[in-house]
Amino acid sequence: MARQADSYTRFLILAITFAVVLNLHHLLFVTQRPASDPRRVQANEPESGSLGKLAGRNKHEGAAAAQPAAVQAAPAGHSNNPKSSASRSAYPTVRGGGRLLDNLFRVQGNFKFPEFNETTTLAIYPNEVPASYPVRARDRIWNQMRYVPVNAATGKSRTKTILLYNGLGGEGNGRERFQRDNCPVSDCIMTGDRSQAATADVIMWQHSVFNPFHKRPAKQIWAVYFLESPHHTPSLNGFAGKVNWTATYRSDSVIVAPYYKFTPYVHNVFVKTQTKNYASGKTKKVAWFVSNCGAQNGRLEYARELGKHIQVDIYGGCGTHQCSRSRSGECFRLLEKEYKFYLAFENSNCWNYITEKFFLNGLSHDILPIVMGARMQDYIDVAPLNSFLHVDNFTSPKHLADYLHELDKDDSKYNTYFQWKGTGLVDTNAFFWCRLCMMAHEAELSSFNYGDIEQWWRKDTCVRGAWPGSKRSRGV
Ligand SMILES: *[C@@H]1O[C@H](CO)[C@@H](O)[C@H](O)[C@H]1NC(C)=O
Ligand SMILES: *[C@@H]1O[C@H](CO)[C@@H](O)[C@H](O)[C@H]1NC(C)=O
Ligand SMILES: *[C@@H]1O[C@H](CO)[C@@H](O)[C@H](O)[C@H]1NC(C)=O
Repeated sequence: MARQADSYTRFLILAITFAVVLNLHHLLFVTQRPASDPRRVQANEPESGSLGKLAGRNKHEGAAAAQPAAVQAAPAGHSNNPKSSASRSAYPTVRGGGRLLDNLFRVQGNFKFPEFNETTTLAIYPNEVPASYPVRARDRIWNQMRYVPVNAATGKSRTKTILLYNGLGGEGNGRERFQRDNCPVSDCIMTGDRSQAATADVIMWQHSVFNPFHKRPAKQIWAVYFLESPHHTPSLNGFAGKVNWTATYRSDSVIVAPYYKFTPYVHNVFVKTQTKNYASGKTKKVAWFVSNCGAQNGRLEYARELGKHIQVDIYGGCGTHQCSRSRSGECFRLLEKEYKFYLAFENSNCWNYITEKFFLNGLSHDILPIVMGARMQDYIDVAPLNSFLHVDNFTSPKHLADYLHELDKDDSKYNTYFQWKGTGLVDTNAFFWCRLCMMAHEAELSSFNYGDIEQWWRKDTCVRGAWPGSKRSRGV
């Protein structure tokens, strides 16, 4: 009996040791060679989960919705086999002792991010971006993902508490989210418990922004997190000088949270020889999946006017065609098989406001998106080369229809809009929570404040119709 207990104890000790070693191994593995993103899927087979929100996102969708599944445009010779960083222990030192990790999350063959070679200064805040920076890198996303501030790298900063003032909204409590994402800086605790307001390191407001009751500690960071356009977000009056950070789709936010991001695989390579005729077998012209008929930018009026000059099939509540949202995968397969053009019309015309309507519904399918929403230059800045048409590029819906008929008759001309396929990654809002946690540590070293935040967010940032300087007349 005693012997048995003894061997049982030894077995237990062995099992525990094994578990600890495994765990340690897991931790090491995580810091050295993180697993590739399991959510990544091929562009032509979007994950059904991500297609759950086809035409428009719910205004009050939880934060989790900011990170739909990653979509990959068929990569050329990519590899998910990051080299062990143990062999490269010397990371470049940036920002006074911080470390710039290897491309920790994804290694794509010879793919290097545009800002990969930056080693001494590293832009983290929007006001640090030099004019010479490549446009795509101005959002600093890849910088923030790979940067470990010196105090976090040396373990000198303590655990940061991040309070989501409007509740967790589906986000994991405590360390869960940071661990799940294998964050390089993961020493953060997330909470929705307002009783911690006086001691939290970061307070972030999402759906409604209002002054809290506690006395603000001098070092406390206040942040607003908006995924919707200024038309659908609350007033920030009364917050002038109080907000340190913004987390929005705007490229000058501190923590940019784009719906999707396109990154070329190879620096300066924007086209690829295609073997496919993207017009082949398509008999229909323009399609649109839409459910909100009352957008202020007049997109429905535009689509109806366009419909007088070319076939426009409107699916959903605002039109006469039906394809159930619950069968969205099928709907999109039908769409790209039969139609040549897709109306990727946003509900607001605001700076940088480009959502999954363009990236997922449009770019991730074999169909040419026609866009309305952000300025034409905003699209050019973030989209693959020659991958869309913008309504502001045409004097009227009739003029656009004329051009569409031209493309419809000329397959090789139509195909010029698909030469970008396979040249880069159409990815989601990458590792937002990791970057938030990193920034909570970085905040010990820097300071940032938006000044008149209401003005920053809303003044002259949206229009009702065409953008100034566009070819399109102000109305339809
Ligand atoms: C480094 O990045 C800059 C743009 O930021 C680019 O002009 C330059 O060619 C890059 N150098 C190398 C060696 O990749
Ligand atoms: C603008 O219109 C021209 C044809 O006039 C077309 O070649 C070009 O692709 C259009 N660009 C956009 C972004 O609409
Ligand atoms: C945050 O903003 C407050 C209020 O303007 C300011 O006092 C503080 O220094 C800022 N903190 C950081 C870390 O940016």
